[in-house]
Amino acid sequence: TIHPLILCGGSGTRLWPLSRKSYPKQFTKLTGEESLFQASARRLAGDGYAAPTVITGSDFRFIVTEQLAAVEIAAAATLIEPEARNTAPAILAGALALEARSPGALMLVAASDHVIPDAAGFRAAVQAAAPAAEAGQLVTFGIAPQRAETGYGWLELSQAPGADFAPVPQPLKSFVEKPDAAKAEKLLADGMHLWNAGIFLFATTTLIEAFERHDPEMLAGVRAALADAEADLGFTRLAPEPWSKLAAISIDYAVMEKAQNLSVVPYGGAWSDLGGWDAVWRESGPDENGVVTSQGATALDCHNTLLRAEDESQQIVGIGLTDVIAIAMPDAVLVAHKDRAQEVKQAVAALKASG
Ligand code: GDD
Ligand code: MG
Repeated sequence: TIHPLILCGGSGTRLWPLSRKSYPKQFTKLTGEESLFQASARRLAGDGYAAPTVITGSDFRFIVTEQLAAVEIAAAATLIEPEARNTAPAILAGALALEARSPGALMLVAASDHVIPDAAGFRAAVQAAAPAAEAGQLVTFGIAPQRAETGYGWLELSQAPGADFAPVPQPLKSFVEKPDAAKAEKLLADGMHLWNAGIFLFATTTLIEAFERHDPEMLAGVRAALADAEADLGFTRLAPEPWSKLAAISIDYAVMEKAQNLSVVPYGGAWSDLGGWDAVWRESGPDENGVVTSQGATALDCHNTLLRAEDESQQIVGIGLTDVIAIAMPDAVLVAHKDRAQEVKQAVAALKASG
């Protein structure tokens, strides 16, 4: 049995103005009828899967409960972080909580904001990874790289994947988190690197041992936050005092770049982390002119353009546009060149700074 841990704490600022601090992108319906979080939970439900653990911030606890109920999934536990400290403490808290309920269990860490349309194919890759995880490996999932992406981790293979990209586990030579542009070009060119999907499978004991080795201070801190956790309306509130002292660091830097017992399972199906409006455009199925429109949006003679009205009361019209992203909300409008969608993050930071 595989126990999912769904990470639900990111703020997704690159998808402003739809994604807000109070309602981040994983809870929004970006590309379909259900939210990314709901799709993530459903992808890992059913035969072979135990009820998921969810870890999120206090502000989102009721959204989590509501959205899970709507897809008829009950969480085994919902952990509440007093504040976001990035993925290393969140994943460790999930692993320690699961270890207490079910010693040595296999845990699959999944983001709540990925698009993976072929759920059955993805589950098959997870099944293929299980023996390596049972043997004490930290298993990563590798995606065929499409560009010299600096926003992802890269996985160095020991063997080139077969032409069919079959999900066969193999030892990982090294893990490179977020390389600079020059390095990313090299990794893309050498044919021996895959993108890290940000999805991990391991036995709880393996992850705990990795922290014992690479970051014992964080292990002690997260243990303390769980030991003093408060049960509250079915939620487990991690203790704020020890939590506030934890380093805010991602699992990739804290453990994956350092560990020796890493494996990778290539995943050949479609995968996207919807890291910006350019990705939403790509994943929403542009028409023959490259146009994507939401309800309430009209594009006349437009090319490679995304137009969205996020509120039923709104209309948005584009005429003769090329390479434009325009998102209308009742209280905010984004208009950007499609190639500069990633800079929304900086814009949000500037808005925050100016109050
Ligand atoms: N609960 C919780 N608390 N969740 C968090 C926190 C936190 O403090 N910080 C991030 N998350 C969630 C995000 O919502 C997302 O679902 C997931 O953890 C990954 O965090 P990101 O912040 O999106 O990471 P990233 O995209 O920069 O990098 C990771 O994912 C890439 C693939 O999408 C890394 O694992 C990269 O190596 C990988 O390529
Ligand atoms: Mg991400």
